[in-house]
Amino acid sequence: MKTDKNSLPGIKTEFRSQLIKKLHRICALLLIPVLLCSANVAAEPVNAGAAQAIQVLTWWQSTGEHKAVDVLSERLTQENIIWHDVVIPSGGVGAGIVLKSRVLAGTAPDLAQLKGPLIGEWFELGLINEFKPLAGASPNNISGKWDKFFFPTVQELVRSNGHLVAVPLGVHRMNMIFYNRKVFDRLGLHAPESWDQFTATAIRLQKEGIIPLAQSTEPWQLASLFEALLLSESSPEFYRRALVKKDPSAFSDIRFARALTRLRTLKKFMPSPVRELNWSDATHLVAAGDAGMIVMGDFAKGELNAWGYATDVNFGCVAVPNTENYHIYNVDTLVMLKKDGASPELADRIAQLMVSPNVQADYNTAKGSVSVLKNADQTRMDSCARNSWKVFSHGSAVQVPSLAHDMATDGISKDAIIAEIVHFFADDSIKVEETQHRLGAITRSLPKAR
Ligand code: BGC
Repeated sequence: MKTDKNSLPGIKTEFRSQLIKKLHRICALLLIPVLLCSANVAAEPVNAGAAQAIQVLTWWQSTGEHKAVDVLSERLTQENIIWHDVVIPSGGVGAGIVLKSRVLAGTAPDLAQLKGPLIGEWFELGLINEFKPLAGASPNNISGKWDKFFFPTVQELVRSNGHLVAVPLGVHRMNMIFYNRKVFDRLGLHAPESWDQFTATAIRLQKEGIIPLAQSTEPWQLASLFEALLLSESSPEFYRRALVKKDPSAFSDIRFARALTRLRTLKKFMPSPVRELNWSDATHLVAAGDAGMIVMGDFAKGELNAWGYATDVNFGCVAVPNTENYHIYNVDTLVMLKKDGASPELADRIAQLMVSPNVQADYNTAKGSVSVLKNADQTRMDSCARNSWKVFSHGSAVQVPSLAHDMATDGISKDAIIAEIVHFFADDSIKVEETQHRLGAITRSLPKAR
């Protein structure tokens, strides 16, 4: 991020170029062959030259998200690239709208957070540039075709028709429960591994005047909970049939009915009345011990760590019951917008840095996610991250894309499905079958996955 420190590289650069000029003058005076002298120039680090500023549009505004951005921007600053943050506070939906309007107005940022199938759509519309990895020296040996080091699922996400169109930053796991360890230890509770244990734990917490499950009514947060319940009540194959393929018959299935029923059952363990809170405030209920648990993507871990709460000491994590061997993933990616003056070389340098092992380890530690590299160093991960990374490493059979986080389907389908879930959650008079029927009818008219 742009800070006062950022003026330093500029000073260093000026100093360096003065040195080079002096060297040339000395060479000329001493009549030393120019080639010998220019060897020194060629040995200049990649950050020679004037500082280059890039605008990066994201919706990262929480404490943990800022820490993660700091990791990236500080590393880029060392290379004389200055990260200018363009933060759209209203989450992914708001950021998408602002990004579109800036592209239309001809004021696109250089890089932007864009995820899932949308990346391919934007590329086909000619709105984003392809990355052209350059062979050659780069930090930590990630050079040339840098995507060959990624997990296969990540490789697919960043490619469109064979073109490399996005840089992945990290893999978040969404089917996680975070719980207040101190509260659990005090009450002799254990992380719930089945729904029966969850219910017993929730009842105990309620008796102590603690909200069992922090939850907000923000649509994406409800959708995020629901998709974890759907996986819990079914299987990765069924999840994909419903939320990726949008097979209308999946919505009338008993497994879909069970997930809706579970969502309604959990309501009695949520704050009453359950209100709209941003995810960071909802997570804070658990940190403060006002709530015992929350189902949230592991960016909640980045947030808790950034507030000074340590993994396995102040809080713990466990997969949502019946999903311990599965991974609902949400991969953060940056794309390069098409605009006058866009520099493929600069973009490649930025991408190489972001996917280099050390930056991956530092960034993902701060963000709560795990590295996109299939040979990442597990010793740099805490217990929650190690577990997420191991499950994700088992490959596509156990992985499913998050609907709530734009991984599973196009924007129209996502919004239509989420609207029905929110409606069902808000109005207890709506029968499970009614919602199933409506979703089946809606998905019949939605675009199909390609
Ligand atoms: C993004 C995360 C972010 C979270 C909350 C998700 O959609 O993928 O990077 O931390 O939203 O803002």
